[in-house]
Amino acid sequence: MDVHVVDHPLAKARLSTMRDARTDSAAFRAALHELTVMLVYEATRDMPVRIERIHTPVARTDGYALASPPLLVPVLRAGLGMADQAHKLIPDAQMGFVGLARDEETLKPTPYLESLPESLAERPVMVLDPMLATGGSMEYTIRLLIDRGATDVTAICALAAPEGIEHLEKTGLPLRVVTASIDERLNDSGFIVPGLGDAGDRQYGAV
Ligand code: PRP
Repeated sequence: MDVHVVDHPLAKARLSTMRDARTDSAAFRAALHELTVMLVYEATRDMPVRIERIHTPVARTDGYALASPPLLVPVLRAGLGMADQAHKLIPDAQMGFVGLARDEETLKPTPYLESLPESLAERPVMVLDPMLATGGSMEYTIRLLIDRGATDVTAICALAAPEGIEHLEKTGLPLRVVTASIDERLNDSGFIVPGLGDAGDRQYGAV
């Protein structure tokens, strides 16, 4: 499994804002929006492009576009805070949705929404979720995508726990992870340490 940590001062700065317990919801959402732009920018770096001749006001030249815009899949709730920014960068992307809530006791994901195209063969997919903790939610989501024929899946996460990365590696699922940080560990409650708390609650309030 390919894991790419976006090691950039601006990404670190936005992630620090998100980590800081004094950051209110509006500032947290703003920092996540900006970080998402950087992560998606890096995640799309090697995507194939389509070239067509265009006219500038001065001359003819090559114009570029993504050859195959990915399907964006935010994992609700927290991934919703990444969806619009990713969509702005890739305006011709389609979007699917997966809703999962992690059981606070068992740490297992409970699905409540699945809105995805029937076939994902030949289509790159980008899963958007700020947090990869135990990896259970991401594994569940990736399996939904693979069941529909996806072979090119990238998980875009603001931060990840080493345990979650290890878990996904053990599944052997074909997957690439792009994140701004691999933190120290998970604590006994399944929270990433040092982490940022609960990305859903920090954006939208506790439920
Ligand atoms: C959080 C987070 C991930 C998941 C990560 O969501 O946004 O989806 O937990 O944990 P895991 O790697 O251990 O599965 P949560 O279930 O708290 O729901 P929310 O987005 O609605 O807050």
